[in-house]
Amino acid sequence: MNRDLSSSTFPPGFLWGTAIGAHQSEGNNVASDWWYRENLAGSPVAERCGDAIDSYHRWPEDLDLAAQAGFTDYRFGIEWSRIEPADGAISRAAVAHYRRIVQGAVARGLRPMVTLHHFTLPLWFAATGGWQHQDAVERFLNYVDALAPVLEAGVVRVETINEPNIVAVLPLLTSGTSLAEGLPVPDNALTQIMIAVHRATVERLRVRHPRLEVGWGVSVQDYQAEPGAEAATEAYCEPRDHVFLRASKGDDFVGIHTYTRGRIGADGLPLPAPDNEQTQTGWEFYPAALGGAVRRASRVVDGIPLIVTENGVATSDDARRIRYTTQALYALRAAMDDGADVRGYFHWSLLDNWEWGHWGPTFGLIAVDRTTFARTPKPSLAWLGALAPRQP
Ligand code: BGC
Repeated sequence: MNRDLSSSTFPPGFLWGTAIGAHQSEGNNVASDWWYRENLAGSPVAERCGDAIDSYHRWPEDLDLAAQAGFTDYRFGIEWSRIEPADGAISRAAVAHYRRIVQGAVARGLRPMVTLHHFTLPLWFAATGGWQHQDAVERFLNYVDALAPVLEAGVVRVETINEPNIVAVLPLLTSGTSLAEGLPVPDNALTQIMIAVHRATVERLRVRHPRLEVGWGVSVQDYQAEPGAEAATEAYCEPRDHVFLRASKGDDFVGIHTYTRGRIGADGLPLPAPDNEQTQTGWEFYPAALGGAVRRASRVVDGIPLIVTENGVATSDDARRIRYTTQALYALRAAMDDGADVRGYFHWSLLDNWEWGHWGPTFGLIAVDRTTFARTPKPSLAWLGALAPRQP
C-alpha cells in the first residue's frame, strides 16, 4: 500500500472533487433551525457555528484554491434558510448569490454539484412541524423551484438530500460522534418522508431541468459481519442504509459517504471499536472502509452508478490524511476492479470547517484561521489535486 497513486490509477473521465456543506462553512445562517438551537441559553450544541469559515463571502478564494489544485468537480451546499428565510418569501439576492458561485465554478473549470438539504432547515419550517408537516414535500419543492436560476447557471449534478439516513436519526442522536458507537435505527416515519421528498424532487428536476444528473448522498459505513453474523449484519444494514440505497432506483447516481467501519456481532449489535488508531472524531482509523462500503452499496443499488461524494479523516496531522486517503483510494480501486461502477471521488472536506457543534475535528485539505479567515493549503491539497487529470 506504499506505492504512489497517479492520475492514471483511475479511469479517464473519473470525477475528482472536494465537498463542503453550506451551514458548516458559510457563517451566520441566522434564519436556520441549527442557528436557533446553537444560540439558545444552555444549548446542547457545544460550540457555535457563528461566522463559520466565512465562505459566504470568501467562496471565490475557495474556488480558486480547489481549481488551482487541479480538481475537476466541486460539491457545495445551498442553504434553504437563506433562499426562503420566511415561508414563501424567496430572497432574490440569495438566489443570485448561489448563481454567482455556480458561474464562478464553471469559469474556473470546476463542474458544480449542489446539495439542496444538508441537515439545516429554515426555522419557520422546523417550527411548523418540519419534515412531519403534511405539506413538507410541497414546501421543499417550492424551494427547489426557486433555485431554477442557480441550477440553470451550469450545475451538472444535484444531491437532493445529504445523508437522509442521518436525517432520520438526528432526533435520536445526542452527540456528533455516533459513527463510533454504531447508528441508532432510523425513525421509520422519517425514513419514508425522506424517500418521498427525494423521489418528488427527482421527478420535479427531471421535468424542469432534464439536463441535470440527480441523486442523493447516503451515509454508508463498512459494516462487517463477524463470523456467523452475516444475516444479522444484513438486518443491521437494512433500516440504516439499504432501504435508502434501494430508494435510489431510477436515479442517475448514488452518492456514497464513508468514513469508518463497524463490526457486527451475531446478536446484531456493533462490537466495541477495537483498540486501534482513532481519528479526532473518535472513529477507528480504517481507510479500507471505502472499499467495503462501495462493494456493499454496489450490490444493493444494482446497476446505478456510484460517486463517492464524501470520504475523509479528521486529523491534525496532514501526513496521516494523505496516508488515509491513499489507502482509501486503493481500496476503492480494488472494488472497481471487482466490478463496482464508481464514477468519481469527492474528498470531505476542502477546508477545515464547523463539525456540527465542534471546531476541534479538522477534516480539511486547507486550514482556516478562525480569526482572520485566512486559508492555508495543507500538503494534501496539492497531493490529491494532482491525481485529477484536467478534462479535455
Ligand atoms: C456529513 C458532514 C460531516 C462529515 C464528517 C458527514 O456525515 O455530511 O456534514 O461534517 O460527515 O462528520
